[in-house]
Amino acid sequence: MAESDRARWDARYRGREEGPGGPSPFVAALDPVFPRRGRALDVAGGAGRNALWLARRGLDVTLTDISGVALEIAAAHAAAQDLRVTGLRLDLETEPLPTGPWSVIVCVHYLWRPLFRAFPALLAEGGLLVVAHPTRTNLERHARPGPQYLLEEGELPTLVPALTIVAYEEGWRNDVHEARLVARRPAEFL
Ligand SMILES: C[S@@+](CC[C@H](N)C(=O)[O-])C[C@H]1O[C@@H](n2cnc3c(N)ncnc32)[C@H](O)[C@@H]1O
Repeated sequence: MAESDRARWDARYRGREEGPGGPSPFVAALDPVFPRRGRALDVAGGAGRNALWLARRGLDVTLTDISGVALEIAAAHAAAQDLRVTGLRLDLETEPLPTGPWSVIVCVHYLWRPLFRAFPALLAEGGLLVVAHPTRTNLERHARPGPQYLLEEGELPTLVPALTIVAYEEGWRNDVHEARLVARRPAEFL
């Protein structure tokens, strides 16, 4: 990713006054299946809407993002709520994800396909991967994100063949056409 993209994301978050906001409804709906303890990784988690929610539920959360401004917002909100969220500024296109094992990995509205090769080995045995991302069908209503940032229909499960699919759906939610996946690392995997 070019330095200008990092600056672009920083500028976007700098102009944002409403704070991280509530968790993604998809993530929040998974409350019953998430563990109450363990380590969680929020991949490109922005200002921490999902990271803060996971931390509130008792998980030890690491939030990664390229935007230092987003991480500052998340850190301020974590401190105000007495939550522990560790922020890591990473360019996920060029730098490796932090070492596991993670009980939960969440990746919402960020797509960099090589990461999917890394996710299974970073999960703890029985750990959950949770992904939501727009698909090409989203172009029927919205010009952005552009095609290069979208999943093909049916593509998401094929990116994690080593994991057991717990739930998968595609469809419109809040005017965004998304693929939504929950997958678990089995006891043994290749
Ligand atoms: C659409 S936002 C989603 C943020 C968050 N996951 C959420 O659901 O609120 C995409 C995020 O990806 C981050 N991002 C973009 N490129 C990145 C990169 N190369 N490495 C790490 N984070 C990146 C941006 O800073 C931004 O926070």
